[in-house]
Amino acid sequence: MTAEGAEGESLAGGMVNAGAVVRRGAVVERPAPRNARALHPYLLALREHGFDAAPAPVALTGDGREQLTFIPGDVALPPFPDWAMTEAALASVGSLLRRLHEAGAAVPVDTRADWPRDLADPAGGTLLCHNDVCPENVVFRDGRAVALIDFDMAAPGRPLWDVAMTARYWVPMLDPAAAAALHPAGLDAPTRLRVLADGYGLSPQDRAELPGVIEQATEVCRAFVTHRVADGDPLYLRSLAERGGWARWDRTQTWLADHRETFRTALLS
Ligand SMILES: Nc1ncnc2c1ncn2[C@@H]1O[C@H](COP(=O)(O)OP(=O)(O)O)[C@@H](O)[C@H]1O
Ligand SMILES: [Mg+2]
Repeated sequence: MTAEGAEGESLAGGMVNAGAVVRRGAVVERPAPRNARALHPYLLALREHGFDAAPAPVALTGDGREQLTFIPGDVALPPFPDWAMTEAALASVGSLLRRLHEAGAAVPVDTRADWPRDLADPAGGTLLCHNDVCPENVVFRDGRAVALIDFDMAAPGRPLWDVAMTARYWVPMLDPAAAAALHPAGLDAPTRLRVLADGYGLSPQDRAELPGVIEQATEVCRAFVTHRVADGDPLYLRSLAERGGWARWDRTQTWLADHRETFRTALLS
């Protein structure tokens, strides 16, 4: 949170909508994703299926913004504090994602809608994956994840894809030097990947596939950044430069491939 006034309180956290997310009392107003007319009914249907751990849509404004309910709690911002990176916090993120998927399994996805392809599962699927469960998009209370926000990247995919995306951010699935830039020191990736999978209740078959899907998700995220940088997007140009450029991506991808078996063993032992 950065500023308060008659215009409302500006909420800090994201990159894409930085400075454009404003809280007024119980309502958050932010730029509406272009598929808001499909996303809002989906979020309402999730609530009808018992998942209330996401903002409820309130309205779309005439000037292209959306209003959602504000969810009280703590959101971890980089550099990520210790409380957000405990194993209990990680397990709670896994179980919250599982609740989202269980409710979502009962909600039909509007396949004619223009869901964003940016971070979508290349294999496709029938579940609406969140696709962007990074720390800045999870609300905590008392050290436990209580809500997911920012469904801008949601798109159909396999549940396992969402687990892989979540692992990238929360384990994190980065080589140790890259992880140290924003995360507390000393996080053990194989152990934490197991904690996330246990919190989610991941099946043995999905555990065997997860390391490979994380590598695939990393390629998709790299391609996303590549496109934004090629378009000259200043946000992505700056964050790429600040975070070690393409060499950092190379190191992480090599590290993931080198440790594929270690992760598989930690998940299945
Ligand atoms: N409905 C909400 N309830 C509570 N906090 C919110 C809500 N929406 C946004 N925030 C806060 O504002 C920050 C930025 O909002 P977000 O919608 O994630 O923007 P961006 O699209 O830029 O990532 C979040 O990281 C969170 O701290
Ligand atoms: Mg966000």
